[in-house]
Amino acid sequence: LGKLIREVLARIEPEIRHSGVQLELVVPDDLPTLSADQFQIEQVVLNLVRNALEAMTDTAPEVRQLVIRINQSRPDMIEVAVVDRGRGINREAEARMFDPFFSTKPLGLGMGLPISRSILEWHGGQIWSDRKTDCGACFRFTLPITHGEASDVDDG
Ligand SMILES: Nc1ncnc2c1ncn2[C@@H]1O[C@H](COP(=O)(O)OP(=O)(O)OP(=O)(O)O)[C@@H](O)[C@H]1O
Ligand SMILES: [Mg+2]
Repeated sequence: LGKLIREVLARIEPEIRHSGVQLELVVPDDLPTLSADQFQIEQVVLNLVRNALEAMTDTAPEVRQLVIRINQSRPDMIEVAVVDRGRGINREAEARMFDPFFSTKPLGLGMGLPISRSILEWHGGQIWSDRKTDCGACFRFTLPITHGEASDVDDG
């Protein structure tokens, strides 16, 4: 998962640089390898990072900061936290942001979060946003650690 996130960040490096956001990625050394649909998880990470960058356009340049932290939250679960210092999530958005086609952006489709939720639930994980007292948003998602070497595919 650390490798996947690094690759996604490298791919949109120009976007990140242009946004003036300072990025921090925290990956523990002993993280187990995941078995998941790489393309789908990339879409989840891409949307969370883009949402964070877009939320920080009005943030003062010196505090534009994005922290992505991976940790093993349970013996069988990996959790990723994406924390920004943007405008935060108002009540309406909090209630509706996982609904299809809810967007507060002029060119937003409003499909990033609902698709991410479907992807993660299909993988046996979850996605939610934390209430935060200070400014910004904190999204978290989890993915289960599936044991077993060769067979990534379930029968049936
Ligand atoms: N980090 C964030 N900070 C503040 N608001 C957010 C954040 N992430 C999501 N939102 C709110 O949730 C809405 C839905 O997000 P979602 O990713 O589903 O759609 P979108 O970004 O608007 O469009 P799309 O992802 O389809 O291009 C956003 O329009 C925004 O109002
Ligand atoms: Mg989005």
